[in-house]
Amino acid sequence: MKRIAVLISGGGSNLQALIDATSSGALPAKIVLVVSNRADAFGIERARRAGIAALTLPLKPWLKAGGTRESYDADVAAQVAAARPDLVVLAGWMHVFSPAFLDRIAAKVINLHPALPRQFPGTHAIERALEAHKHGEIAETGVMVHEVIPEVDAGPVLGTARIAIAPGDNLASLSEKIHAAEHRLLVDVIRELVTEPH
Ligand code: GRF
Repeated sequence: MKRIAVLISGGGSNLQALIDATSSGALPAKIVLVVSNRADAFGIERARRAGIAALTLPLKPWLKAGGTRESYDADVAAQVAAARPDLVVLAGWMHVFSPAFLDRIAAKVINLHPALPRQFPGTHAIERALEAHKHGEIAETGVMVHEVIPEVDAGPVLGTARIAIAPGDNLASLSEKIHAAEHRLLVDVIRELVTEPH
């Protein structure tokens, strides 16, 4: 059974999709660790309810204690690596890793991003897509899962889902469509990764 570590920063609805898929058997893998960089992330509660080991590793106290972003990234990597994951999933992880993290993780690291490749890298992607639609620049947006490389939201794309933006869409209605598509795409991409022939 492949071992998955999931990194989050917020509500964890994508983590919940993975928890549901692994417990129903739809996704033949085991979530062995959840890491959050925010103590108040509801995703930590989701992990607790599912009996999954969870770590809260906030950056600010690390820096206050004299650490650096690089040493923080290295520490997060060490704690993730200790769980011996075959795959590391950034699902709403809102901290840009320096190479100090990637250099220490042997497993593939993938990221979920609420936009299509090369469209809206970085934060507030959904709002930016809505704005671009209002200006007639795009008719659709989407979501993608990609391999993590040092450049933000730019690694090899593993899967995408396109989402039409309706004229009456607002941030709430578009976000709802985006998140529903994310929950499906993330499970589908990971299923391929954990069951692909060696
Ligand atoms: C998702 O839209 C993800 O793509 C983005 O942050 C959101 C996290 O949502 N990076 P959740 O915490 O999984 O509900």
